[in-house]
Amino acid sequence: MESIVSVNIEIEKDFCNFAKDVLTGLSQSPKVLPSKYFYDAKGDKLFQQIMDMPEYYLTNSEFEVLETQKSRILDLIGSESFDLIELGAGDGTKTKILIDYFLHQKTNFCYAPIDISGNVLDQLKQDLHQRWPQLCCEPVQGDYFDALENLSQSTDIKKVILFLGANIGNLQLEEAEDFLSHVGEYMQKEDIILIGFDLKKDPKVILDAYNDPKGITAAFNLNLLHRINRELQADFKVNQFKHWETYNPVTGATRSFIVSTCEQTVHIEALDTYFHFNAWEAIDVELSQKYDTTMIENLAKKSGFEVVEHLFDRKGYFVDSVWRKK
Ligand SMILES: C[S@@+](CC[C@H](N)C(=O)[O-])C[C@H]1O[C@@H](n2cnc3c(N)ncnc32)[C@H](O)[C@@H]1O
Repeated sequence: MESIVSVNIEIEKDFCNFAKDVLTGLSQSPKVLPSKYFYDAKGDKLFQQIMDMPEYYLTNSEFEVLETQKSRILDLIGSESFDLIELGAGDGTKTKILIDYFLHQKTNFCYAPIDISGNVLDQLKQDLHQRWPQLCCEPVQGDYFDALENLSQSTDIKKVILFLGANIGNLQLEEAEDFLSHVGEYMQKEDIILIGFDLKKDPKVILDAYNDPKGITAAFNLNLLHRINRELQADFKVNQFKHWETYNPVTGATRSFIVSTCEQTVHIEALDTYFHFNAWEAIDVELSQKYDTTMIENLAKKSGFEVVEHLFDRKGYFVDSVWRKK
């Protein structure tokens, strides 16, 4: 069991990283804030509402892929024991399809969900324990960039790495390449990684998914300012900011912005700093990169992988791509 001291050190580390990233991001021009900080307890709840929205096609599309292709996925994994490592597991809604199937097939595996949100991991752990008390589950709280170090400790057992829900789209193309090359360093020849990519499609379908009429996505993005107010003692007047979404059909970049609707100054006490916003100045808060198969295959090649199989949904909206190290 973790000691109180080590838990406190982790909390302090999370706080310092958050403070440091907010200071760096709001000091630069254009201003940016990393999207990984969307996910506090309120953000987790809002994201669960987003996943239930009819406009947010990503959930249903990937759900369909996993539901219809679960036996193919197990064929690709093979029959030996493995560690099922999930990067950015969230509430594991879709992963539970695979877990349920693997358990029914009497597969021997241990599940290690990694997430930066301790809140969502606690919920996931409880839920999994209630459903499948026999499931071996070892959650890891933290940034998956750091959690990679933990992966390296067990090299003798096969690894199956899941990176679902188009989380990869939150990285710039070069960052995605670096990140996946780094993941590859911890993988052996027989290990596999299954990555969810959201595909280029009708721009309206994409924009509607990030710009719902009920304003749930707007609330999700603006929650980041509430979080800074609460955790870093800031005085953002959140109603003086608005959510804005863009999609570039050439590059596939879908971007979320928080835009200041007037000239204003915000004080962040924990940073002992004032930040000035011009009217209509934006904070770049999230990239949700859309891919096509050529981009995916290039990414696999450049990061040292080969594509084993692309698993699409019927509409061709989403692909879970299975890769092995070259
Ligand atoms: C868009 S949700 C997707 C959740 C899940 N993969 C799915 O498909 O439903 C992103 C999840 O990744 C987590 N996350 C985002 N950035 C992260 C990072 N750098 N390290 C660890 N977890 C991260 C968030 O806390 C959140 O639970």
